[in-house]
Amino acid sequence: MIQFYLNDQRVETDAAPATPLLDFIRTHRDLVGTKAGCREGDCGACCVLLGYLDPQSKHVSYQSITSCLFPLGNVHGTHVVTVEGLQEIAPNPVQTAMVTRGATQCGFCTPGFVMSWMAFALGDGALTGQAAEQAIDGNICRCTGYQSLKQVAQDLTAELNRSLGQRDLSGLVSACWVPAYFRDIPGQLAAIPAVSAGSGSGRFLAGGTDLLVQIPEQIQEESVVLVHRQPGKRSIREQGDSLWVDGSATVTDLLNSPCFDWIPNWTDQLRLISSTPIRNIATVAGNLANASPIGDLSILFLAMDAEISVGIHEPDERRFPLADFFLDYKKLLLNPGERIWGLTIPKGDSRFQFLKVSKRTYLDIASVNSAMRIWLKDNHIQRVALAAGGVAPVPLYLRETSRFLEGKKPDAQIFEQALAIANREIAPISDVRGSAEYKRLLLTQQLKVHFETLFRDEEVAV
Ligand SMILES: Cc1cc2nc3c(=O)[nH]c(=O)nc-3n(C[C@H](O)[C@H](O)[C@H](O)COP(=O)(O)OP(=O)(O)OC[C@H]3O[C@@H](n4cnc5c(N)ncnc54)[C@H](O)[C@@H]3O)c2cc1C
Ligand code: FES
Ligand code: FES
Repeated sequence: MIQFYLNDQRVETDAAPATPLLDFIRTHRDLVGTKAGCREGDCGACCVLLGYLDPQSKHVSYQSITSCLFPLGNVHGTHVVTVEGLQEIAPNPVQTAMVTRGATQCGFCTPGFVMSWMAFALGDGALTGQAAEQAIDGNICRCTGYQSLKQVAQDLTAELNRSLGQRDLSGLVSACWVPAYFRDIPGQLAAIPAVSAGSGSGRFLAGGTDLLVQIPEQIQEESVVLVHRQPGKRSIREQGDSLWVDGSATVTDLLNSPCFDWIPNWTDQLRLISSTPIRNIATVAGNLANASPIGDLSILFLAMDAEISVGIHEPDERRFPLADFFLDYKKLLLNPGERIWGLTIPKGDSRFQFLKVSKRTYLDIASVNSAMRIWLKDNHIQRVALAAGGVAPVPLYLRETSRFLEGKKPDAQIFEQALAIANREIAPISDVRGSAEYKRLLLTQQLKVHFETLFRDEEVAV
């Protein structure tokens, strides 16, 4: 039985766990304020708030998510808020700002924008105009134009800074951003019995951002093993000489984790991956298991020289280099029933950079992506891990190029030789994301940027 709160109502349902949350909201509960647009995570019309209770602090933290892709089974124990759940106070300050600025025409996208901005208001990130604009990076409007929406972002930031004495739930209720029933939610969520994630048999289902796009009907008929976990259980932590990244960690968890503070512009690099409401649910294990040749997290972790832990019952039944995991197009070194538990990443004084080129900067998949990590000693390259996507049937670890660079002193000549080896290692094909020649050119340019950035202190110009 799936139990959760939908606005101020307790829900208990036996609906199929892989039912898209959107369908449950609209069809089972007749709450049609949440709109169905693309059903592929691209438009944001279906955005709702998902609130997780921290059992220790009794604080509920809210995020925006795309309900068209999020499996109903994952909302057990949470608070789901739709646009109707804000209506006790009419209109909400976000809605007021949208009306004032003329930021809505047909209105189809509007509930999605409202919910994304509510996540901004309820979150604990910086209250800046830039952050308010980033909060709607997963929302598309086809008729109004973005100038008025940008003005709303500025208005909301000013209003939040002005009206909130304290940025907590009481402050938000007092300033009429959320209805008073929000105050009761922590206690109500605490009374819902926990269920253990990962039990049962069938296909693993995490955030659903791949599976509910690929087989939305079929998956609802199947038995599934839900492996999405609540934030407190998705650890990213230091563990001796390494970092542990749980397979159920989301892209947002990675983006916010202090464990990656050693990488300059880490958040900017991760913002190139999907959009806020997708990043809030898309998991590391899902990205690896989907095995897309351009999977951003696959490339990123290959270049971190990660090891992957897989097993049926335990994390460390088998642990091996992630570079060995991708065998051929969508073929993995993963036995039936084995789950991806997480990744172990070596720590150590090193430099890292992830690059991605796509037709659109944001909310697009890569034509070519790449990442490089280097360890230097006495001005020589001690160790290298280089990976590239979109240039082979698998996310590719460039073994030969990495091996060639080890022990070398970085300079323009070494770069040219490395480039020649990399070009022999890759085998791009022409497709909708570009011709094979174009992809070779993209990788060449990206390798130049990696070299110039990572060896900036050594002043290597290539
Ligand atoms: C709008 C949109 C934008 C996107 N943008 C990007 C992007 O910019 N970059 C990018 O790389 N990807 C992108 N994606 C793809 C997707 O978000 C990622 O691949 C995501 O990480 C998948 O994780 P998930 O938890 O949603 O996986 P799910 O859909 O739940 O599962 C995907 C696969 O992983 C398997 N699986 C899940 N968990 C486990 C586990 N623990 N062990 C074994 N198998 C498991 C499932 O059985 C399934 O085969 C985008 C998707 C959408 C819809
Ligand atoms: S309906 Fe378009 S993102 Fe969900
Ligand atoms: S107002 Fe029509 S899509 Fe945004």
